[in-house]
Amino acid sequence: MPTSQPVSSRKDDASANADVMILVVDDEAEHAETISESLRRTGYRTLVASSGKAAIDMLENEHVDIVLTDLVMKDVDGMEVLGSARRLHPDVEVVVMTGFASVEGAVEAMKKGASTYLKKPLNIQELRAVIEKVLERQNLSRSNVYLQQELDRKYGFSGIIGNAESMQKVFTVLQQVAPTSATVLIQGESGTGKELVAKAIHRNSPRRNQHFIPINCTAMPEGLIESELFGHEKGAFTGAIGARKGRFEFANHGTLLLDEIGDMPLSTQAKLLRVIEERCVYRVGSNVPIPVDVRLIASTNRHVEDLVKEGKFREDLYYRLRVVTISLPPLRARQSDIALLIDHFIKEFSHQHSRRIEGITPAARTMLLAYPWPGNVRELRNTMEAMVVLTRDNILDTDDIPEEISSKRDVSTPGVGASGGLPPAGLTLKKSEIDLIRRTLEMVRGNREEAARLLGCGERTLYRKLKQYKLTEVGKSPV
Ligand SMILES: Nc1ncnc2c1ncn2[C@@H]1O[C@H](COP(=O)(O)OP(=O)(O)OP(=O)(O)O)[C@@H](O)[C@H]1O
Ligand SMILES: [Mg+2]
Repeated sequence: MPTSQPVSSRKDDASANADVMILVVDDEAEHAETISESLRRTGYRTLVASSGKAAIDMLENEHVDIVLTDLVMKDVDGMEVLGSARRLHPDVEVVVMTGFASVEGAVEAMKKGASTYLKKPLNIQELRAVIEKVLERQNLSRSNVYLQQELDRKYGFSGIIGNAESMQKVFTVLQQVAPTSATVLIQGESGTGKELVAKAIHRNSPRRNQHFIPINCTAMPEGLIESELFGHEKGAFTGAIGARKGRFEFANHGTLLLDEIGDMPLSTQAKLLRVIEERCVYRVGSNVPIPVDVRLIASTNRHVEDLVKEGKFREDLYYRLRVVTISLPPLRARQSDIALLIDHFIKEFSHQHSRRIEGITPAARTMLLAYPWPGNVRELRNTMEAMVVLTRDNILDTDDIPEEISSKRDVSTPGVGASGGLPPAGLTLKKSEIDLIRRTLEMVRGNREEAARLLGCGERTLYRKLKQYKLTEVGKSPV
């Protein structure tokens, strides 16, 4: 953890603690209740689960900041609770409690992402001190921009890698829009980084210390999505045994991402529009307006304009949402980013899987560049992870590339589509030569030896042409 920046000291008063939700999990229900009670006395909000399964159900439905879980439990144990908590709430802090003299289980839990552990029987003072410390850390990581890698300065914005011109334009818009409260519509094919962009907007906004809450509108029946978004009152429908907050309320003062907005049912769209206009939500089954201050980001891999024409999306809502529109280009349309991302993911996964991978051969790189990446960055990321994990030596080569990719790549000249027919009018021999050289150099990131090999000419010939066409700087990374 970086220590160079001052840690903002948390307000000690109960009002600050009231923003914090702690889930206490112990199959000795009485023990869980006692802990919960002592935390409540300090002003925290708590939820109590007396089994691992109940805890996971709660994690799926409620927003939780800290999980305090017993490690050894019947059926679903603390490790499973830990796994679910990390998956469902990436910035949750998990503290494990262990009743055995051995701390081995706790150490194992910490390796899997638990923040710390407490030995049973708990000492209440110690428990409160640990919770304070964990919250401090959570605040720091929620607020701190230390996560922004050094790479950002060179090639990206808040963890989004890209140096293609189209991405540079996206970064410019992000820089302008992030500090405001403007609603943003992010469009792009699956895997192009819509969620990553939404998180970057939140992290670079004044709301960064508050919650970022995503909700996926795909495949959710109308009733469920409305109760998820707006919450419900006890008895609002069969099965509503208690009142529940919706995501709008959880996201209050923060950011709400409406993922796959194109799939939202029309009747829910009408209600959403009302919320946007009135800045209030109504829980299902209630007429009482609850004021909310939420920044909205919507994302979709569909053309909302087409959906509007087809009558599947409300035009008025569309205009409300697309105050600023960001379109993420597919990966195949930004060849230079493929090269950059290959190197980035090699580093990331070598570190993550403790492999010492030194790089990738030019032939393997060329093969990856020639593939159309229908699953975009997600597919490239997964492929690179598999390659890093499975390779036998420390340089990735063509035989490490999964079959489905090496067999499906576009085998025509690098960077040039395989389409037949006549070239478009106005395309001269000189222009296409310049274009071909430029694209090849971008692909191999300025490596002239490799470019000459791919273009089937000598290095000196290539060098002459670079000078002639004033291309000597092409492919060199911006510093
Ligand atoms: N420019 C990028 N730089 C680094 N990583 C990226 C970039 N774009 C996407 N990724 C990574 O690719 C994966 C997919 O990104 P993300 O989930 O944001 O895509 P998406 O557009 O929301 O996809 P879907 O439509 O399928 O939900 C994530 O692991 C993300 O971190
Ligand atoms: Mg997504």
